This record gives sequence, structure tokens and C-alpha cells, in this order.
Amino acid sequence: MSERPEDLPEDSRFAVLASGSGSNLQALLDAYPGHVAVVAGDKEDAFAFERARLAGVPVEHVNPIGFEDRKDFDRELADRIAAYDVALVVGAGYMRVLSAVFLERFPAVLNVHPSLLPEFKGLHAVRRALAVGVGQTGVTVHFMVEEVDAGPVVAREAVPVLPGDTEDTLLERLHPVEHRLLVGAVADYFTGRVMV
Ligand code: GRF
Repeated sequence: MSERPEDLPEDSRFAVLASGSGSNLQALLDAYPGHVAVVAGDKEDAFAFERARLAGVPVEHVNPIGFEDRKDFDRELADRIAAYDVALVVGAGYMRVLSAVFLERFPAVLNVHPSLLPEFKGLHAVRRALAVGVGQTGVTVHFMVEEVDAGPVVAREAVPVLPGDTEDTLLERLHPVEHRLLVGAVADYFTGRVMV
């Protein structure tokens, strides 16, 4: 990141939910050391967990196997995270839909999505944007609500689709934008510039 992120108020503590490689998590760990209270998720072998451990941040893995339904899983996930007393949860490549049982437990839950919402909600947003042949796509950071990828927008930025782009090349250009917008949105939340 080229710009230095601003300092968060000292007592700002947030949780990050991740299921994958965790590059967004890494951007948050780098920008706000000491403020990520816990990293939680459903995939035990997610590289995001490794990044958390390397940063000395506790990890909470909840295995979806063994839960009757999504609500029971979400209740357990919320219980585990709530124990860390966080004021915000950030979805950073968390690949499960969160139910109200989870969302209602925290003051705010942010999410990053690789499209200009409301376009291309849901999975494989980049692949579908390329298939349709749009001239631009982008990144949206928004507050999560029960409806998937539909909550109030905190930040949005367009990224052009270039001739010959593949999912990989386009993702490569979207990722730094995701990282910058997500880091900015966390600061916006904790400094009161955005509210749910
Ligand atoms: C990002 O593209 C995010 O927008 C999507 O999942 C991806 C996660 O990437 N929801 P990473 O695990 O943070 O590298």
C-alpha cells in the first residue's frame, strides 16, 4: 500500500472472517497491528489462518460439519467471536452466507465484494463480469445484511476490464483495490465517518 493508513482509536478491536488465502486479512493486519482481535472461519486449512498465526492473532475455526443447520453454526461462530469483545466484524473472503443469528450479535459487519454492487452479486462475480463482457467492474465494501451482497455501501471503486483480461489478470488488479478500500472502510467505521 502506498499511503500510510491512519491510526485507529486505541481501543478499536475487530474480528476478521476469512475462508481463503487471506490477502485482504493481510492488508488489515499490516495496516492495523494490534487491532485485529481474532480471525475466524470455516476452513481449517485456509491460508488466512496461517497469516493470523504468523501475526500472533488468535484463530477460531468452526467446522460446519456437525451442525444441524446454518443458524446453529452461525450461533457458535458468533459466540466464539463475541468472546473477544469486538466492535466490528470484517468479512474478508468469507465464503458462507451469514444469517441474522450472527449479524444481530455485532454492532456492524463489513464485507468486501469484487464487483460494483448491485451488479454481479454472489459467487464468481469476476468470472461472470468477464462472461457478460462489461467494460468495467470494480470493488464494493458494504455493511452486511441478511440479503447477500445487498447492504449499505461504504466504498466503491471501478476497475476497467482490459482486452484479453482473464479472471486471474483482472483479479490481480482488483485485489489491491479491495485491500485499499477495506482498510479505508475500517478507519471510516472506527472514526465515525460511516455508521450502520
Ligand atoms: C476477494 O476477492 C473478496 O472480494 C472475495 O473473496 C476474495 C478473497 O480474497 N469475497 P483473499 O482471501 O482476501 O485473498
